Amino acid sequence: MKNSTPRIIAPSILAADWSHVADEAQRAKQAGGDWLHLDVMDGHFVDNISFGPTYVEAVRKSTDQYLDVHLMITRPDHFYSRFVEAGADNITVHVESDHDVAKTLAGIREAGCHCGLALSPDTPFDDMLPFLDQIDLLLVMTVRPGYGGQAFMETETMPKVQQALSERERLGLNYHIEVDGGIDIKTVQIAAANGANVMVAGTSLFAAPDMAAAIAEMRR
Ligand code: DX5
Ligand code: ZN
Repeated sequence: MKNSTPRIIAPSILAADWSHVADEAQRAKQAGGDWLHLDVMDGHFVDNISFGPTYVEAVRKSTDQYLDVHLMITRPDHFYSRFVEAGADNITVHVESDHDVAKTLAGIREAGCHCGLALSPDTPFDDMLPFLDQIDLLLVMTVRPGYGGQAFMETETMPKVQQALSERERLGLNYHIEVDGGIDIKTVQIAAANGANVMVAGTSLFAAPDMAAAIAEMRR
């Protein structure tokens, strides 16, 4: 099933050179990236620690790109307001996290920010059903969250992208369908063919010899 929404490419800062994050953000923009994806990890929800609101603020100061903040943390309800203040344009929380999902999503929107809901590869799509009419973005993780550079998990996750698309059409909603993890010039076409329109890519873009060519290829 093809979807008509325009394809959005979101380079993931996790794979960038953090010691020059302002330059890396500019490099991604010059290369044709649309959004910038920022992976926040708390060392509890996932077995890795990345960065917090202060780092997001630094990225905010260095670019006008749409900042797509992905909270891989146990208590997004407790922390989301600090990421709003830091300048996030979208904040995606995990359905598996330990919070009142509907309340968190409403709070993010009330703060004037777009809100997204993510599910990891082992989580059934049904867990998302109660929230589909409360989100601007649905993130289907195509790797187990926590690390960049992992392999795309096609069989476990593409049926969920298809379900996200068919539910969106059935309910007359218009959330973005985002995929994240192992996305490169090959797997991006598989994700698009199943219904995804926002493509997060870290390693395949920041490590590419020619980032602009890789992004152009991803848009095909
Ligand atoms: C993983 C993060 C992804 C990751 C993608 O937990 O959510 O955004 O940075 O990295 P690649 O594209 O290298 O798989
Ligand atoms: Zn991410």
